Amino acid sequence: MPHPVETDTIKIAVLGAAGGIGQSLSLLLKTQLTAFSNRRHVHLALYDVNADGVRGVAADLSHVDTPITLSSHSPADSADALRDCLINAALVLIPAGVPRKPGMTREDLFAINAKIVGQLGGAIAQHCDLSRVFVLVISNPVNSLVPVMVETLYASAPAASAGVERRVFGITHLDLVRASTFLHEQTITSNLTERSDIMPYVPVIGGHSGDTIVPLFSLASEQHHIPQQQLESLVHRVQYGGDEIVKAKNGQGSATLSMAHAAFQVVKNFVLLLTGAADTLSGIFYVSLLDRAGQPVCPGAGKLLALIDGCTYFAAPVTATRAQGVVDVDYGILAKISAYEREKLLPLCLPKLKAGIEAGRKAGTTV
Ligand code: NAI
Repeated sequence: MPHPVETDTIKIAVLGAAGGIGQSLSLLLKTQLTAFSNRRHVHLALYDVNADGVRGVAADLSHVDTPITLSSHSPADSADALRDCLINAALVLIPAGVPRKPGMTREDLFAINAKIVGQLGGAIAQHCDLSRVFVLVISNPVNSLVPVMVETLYASAPAASAGVERRVFGITHLDLVRASTFLHEQTITSNLTERSDIMPYVPVIGGHSGDTIVPLFSLASEQHHIPQQQLESLVHRVQYGGDEIVKAKNGQGSATLSMAHAAFQVVKNFVLLLTGAADTLSGIFYVSLLDRAGQPVCPGAGKLLALIDGCTYFAAPVTATRAQGVVDVDYGILAKISAYEREKLLPLCLPKLKAGIEAGRKAGTTV
């Protein structure tokens, strides 16, 4: 389904668009994004190896009455499908890969998803302008696949990849969405508040798997006295909340609808940045703290590295600009967290996160 893409169009490529997340996210983008596009035309380029799936999603969504246009791309339809999807893309969203089944950890997905993300990274290096594109990695394990993507971009486009680590973002926002929801539920059921109409904001840092997820309830926008035992249950639920969905779906996959909601919250902010409606983008993302030369991407990243035992990727509050990608990392958040978060949660997170990063870096250099 070819579609002419105008030059001032914001083109968004969704790789893995026929999947559970890809379909729901594409629906949200098609139905909701016009409100954030600052009158710029948006084009969604949907790609998947499942040809019937992606053709069907694009055809179905093309009947939705918004001005956003769509194209579908699959290797079964054209040898140049990935190139056609990626060319001129300003934003590449990657929910391609296999999801968990009951009993699996996100790390169990590594072997297969690292290959997929590596292959897609090679194509991004070839067909996208690496000084302009933003790449958002949703596929799991995020902890390792962001390093896979960064290393692949470096390796595949040595001459064009300077600074590209500032433009690759691991999407951990579902952890913030869960932390907010679970805290809200807890405050209602424990009669800690009468206000049921305000959702709290809860920062979550670290990584996106089990103990590497560090919810910071001490910095929640709504503060209540929660006994330590209840607090620990809340933390555990955020860290392992994905398992509730994997179990409920009983072999049919993991979070898709809540993930699509979380990803949409992020994508709309990138679109505001891309249209110039916002000068900067702020949020918690899993990003590289070092550049290709091994130097901190910004002074804040250097200070954060010293506080997290040299973990080279970390989900932290970052500020990004359209031209430069990540320009600031808020290391100061670590000075504000509680003793429990600093002394119990972070020490459990860091070694596991480092192992995930190392696996990703190794795989990325051999793709
Ligand atoms: P799914 O199996 O429903 O969809 C994946 C899609 O990727 C399929 O349509 C498949 O055909 C496609 N695909 C496979 N190989 C491909 C390739 N080489 N190129 C393009 N497309 C390819 O899986 P679902 O539920 O959509 O999950 C996708 C990924 O997102 C999984 O790795 C899952 O673990 C991860 N995930 C991440 C979350 C996060 O918070 N970051 C939350 C939930 C899931």
